[in-house]
Amino acid sequence: MSARDLWPAVLAHLRGCDAPAAEFLDGLPREPQERPAPPPADGFARPVPNELDRLADTAPAETRALCAAIAAEAARLSWRSSYTTADVGAFATGYAWAPIAAPDGPLVIPSGLVCIMHIGPRLHYPPHRHEPEELYAVLAGNAVFSSDRSPRTRLGPGALRHHAPYETHSMDTDDSAALVLALWKGSYRKSEIVKTEAT
Ligand SMILES: [Fe+2]
Repeated sequence: MSARDLWPAVLAHLRGCDAPAAEFLDGLPREPQERPAPPPADGFARPVPNELDRLADTAPAETRALCAAIAAEAARLSWRSSYTTADVGAFATGYAWAPIAAPDGPLVIPSGLVCIMHIGPRLHYPPHRHEPEELYAVLAGNAVFSSDRSPRTRLGPGALRHHAPYETHSMDTDDSAALVLALWKGSYRKSEIVKTEAT
């Protein structure tokens, strides 16, 4: 199995999601080319999350197929962090993300990003913002999502969270980890951490 084998499950999941997902789905090729993605920068590689099978087992029917596909593929994805501990504290090593599709692979799309994000329990992803429009689709577990434009909300499997360009947003987990499909539409630039807390 490869990212290519995971792709149909990603597209099928997005097709079953509510309105904002269609806009993100529209720009995604059905059969993207494969290309070896650049490795993480030195010091930013992260181990494969070790609880993906368990998370997949807890997922409801609507997200279970994609969770199971991710768990099956996880060892062949390139897990990484975007931050240092100086940037974001314990979150830097408590979460990991793996690219599925981006302009530089492993599946090639013209712009934006499709990735899988695993956030361990009891973590705080500090307020951050970025140019690309973002869609989070929660697949398993749950997290509390906060932003400067939307109410603070706990979201579980099947829920979507949309962030406009430069909308400052943050995320918190408690006793449960969270597995999230994350998409960026537009340019592909690293998030900027906002040093003051979002309201
Ligand atoms: Fe974001």
